Amino acid sequence: MKVSLPSLREMKRESRPIVMITAYDHPSGRIVDRAGVDLVLVGDSAANVVLGHSSTVPATMDEMTMLTAAVSRGVERALVIGDLPFMSYQVSDGEAVANAGRLIKDGGADVVKLEGAGPSLERVQALVAAGIGVMGHIGLTPQTATALGGHKAQGREAEAARRLFMDAIALERAGCFAMVLEAVPAPVATIISGRLEIPTIGIGSGPGTDGQVLVLHDMLGIRAGDGPEPRFVKRYAEIGEQMGAAVAAYADEVRSHAYPAEEHTYSIPEPELDAFEQAVDAGSIDDNTLADW
Ligand code: KIV
Repeated sequence: MKVSLPSLREMKRESRPIVMITAYDHPSGRIVDRAGVDLVLVGDSAANVVLGHSSTVPATMDEMTMLTAAVSRGVERALVIGDLPFMSYQVSDGEAVANAGRLIKDGGADVVKLEGAGPSLERVQALVAAGIGVMGHIGLTPQTATALGGHKAQGREAEAARRLFMDAIALERAGCFAMVLEAVPAPVATIISGRLEIPTIGIGSGPGTDGQVLVLHDMLGIRAGDGPEPRFVKRYAEIGEQMGAAVAAYADEVRSHAYPAEEHTYSIPEPELDAFEQAVDAGSIDDNTLADW
């Protein structure tokens, strides 16, 4: 059965962990859905992970809509979350609603996600009033990482933790159906999660949230660069190494004529081949023959 907003609340009430993962293309959408995840986020982390940027900031609405559509076409059971990229919702309620509408109508997303509280609260209200489900995202918010002083844990002092707590309550009251807590100290995330009615999904925020999310390429070991990985990433496979080895093996076989072999080629009946060879041998192909062709 398709995951719904009420079913997520029920999972929280019943203390059943919610599993969320990112995906950025159709085959990955199919694979993660069939693996049984509850939420598939087409994150603006696509900018880093599949588009080769050094931050999420350059992600555009066109890119996010295309990636979301590809993923949505592969997902049946999980709820698909379209991520609103930087500056697609900050300017006005109208732009936020129009852009979220694009992710849903053209991208096939079920709901959207945006970052921050403060000015984002009004946007959440406008989106919810337009009938669009909104997931919040606080703690380390990559779109505004520069303003936060870099990609580092948030809420490590009492006052900062209190601000996160207040933001979480405000986002819930503004109408979010769930929220991501990114890089928040585990005890702080646990306290926030315990005080909210809506589910929290942690990334680098310990085991006390109502669910977990990881970036697909991180947990599969497909690295976009050589920089350090966040400490919360756990590798469940080394697909990047396997991809490299597979492509190297293919290259070797092409160069040594081991590939393609008989079983990779199509046959033609002998008489047809003879006739073809005779036609080719019959004479030179001049410009008039080509023109008639
Ligand atoms: O864009 C993304 O992948 C995210 C997750 C890290 C939560 O926002």
